Amino acid sequence: MKIGPLAAACLALALGSSSSAFAQTTTLKIGYATSKESHYGVGSTVFCEEVEKNTAGRFKCQHFANSALGGEREQIEAIQLGTQDLLNTSTGPVGNFVPEMKIVDIPFLFRDYDHARKVMDGPIGQDILTKFPSKGIIALAWTENGFRHMTNSKRDIVKPSDAAGLKMRTMENKVHMDGYRTFGILPTPMAFPELFGALQQGTVDGQENPIPVILASKFSQVQKHLSLTGHVYSPALLLLSPKVWNKLSDSDKKVFLAAAQKASVAQRKKVNDDENNGIAQLEKDGMKVTRIVDGNAFREALKPAYVGYAKEFGADNIKKISDVR
Ligand code: PAF
Repeated sequence: MKIGPLAAACLALALGSSSSAFAQTTTLKIGYATSKESHYGVGSTVFCEEVEKNTAGRFKCQHFANSALGGEREQIEAIQLGTQDLLNTSTGPVGNFVPEMKIVDIPFLFRDYDHARKVMDGPIGQDILTKFPSKGIIALAWTENGFRHMTNSKRDIVKPSDAAGLKMRTMENKVHMDGYRTFGILPTPMAFPELFGALQQGTVDGQENPIPVILASKFSQVQKHLSLTGHVYSPALLLLSPKVWNKLSDSDKKVFLAAAQKASVAQRKKVNDDENNGIAQLEKDGMKVTRIVDGNAFREALKPAYVGYAKEFGADNIKKISDVR
């Protein structure tokens, strides 16, 4: 909160804000992994602008882009503690806090963006959001990171045997790692802020991320091969600290939820734009792009992992997601 006591008193009077615990401008700290121009920055900016506009400036944001507040796991902990207000994050480490969420991280579960977005916006996705408050986190909306693709410094990947033996950085996500092992990859979990250096130094051969992240993080500088494996959908979430939420009036809660919906639309649009234009850009930047990938061979390799997923999440629940049209 950065206004003087006199100005705050005047503003409180002008707004007649005695009904709210926030009588002056509250600056909310929002964190995300990539730049302010990236998909996360676009979604976060729309959220913050909507909240500022619809609360007559009682709330505004300070952006901490490019992992300035740490890796996503650390930032989730900060949200729980209330030392950070907002986080736009992939689901990567979220399942370690809210296990009910892990089902949406299963590789090759979603056919395409339409399917994924329909599930997130429908009863299954919305029900998952209700599991967060008991874990000390408020999930305002699903945003989006995108379908993940593999990059590496060694070779083109068309089928799992091409990926076999590659040391590949993954998120700290057991569902992903169990799946990727069936491709023969050696998964190396690592917080994202360490990744560029690890690729540069050759500590890992590759990584997997959606096009918007590969672009924003300039991985073309340290990775030669990009294969459009689209092996898993990477949902994202706009998370808020309960410390903030619990002090909001009912009408401010509505403003925050509506702003999160608009953020989601804007973030998904930026993901679409990057998917449409970013691959050519990465090629221009020197990456060798493999567009035709043997998806059936990857799905076949994944079968043993699906036995484990069915045990953990229930075959019926997985089918319910697959069946959404
Ligand atoms: O790879 C990851 O950890 C995530 O996809 C990232 C880049 C932090 C974006 O959420």
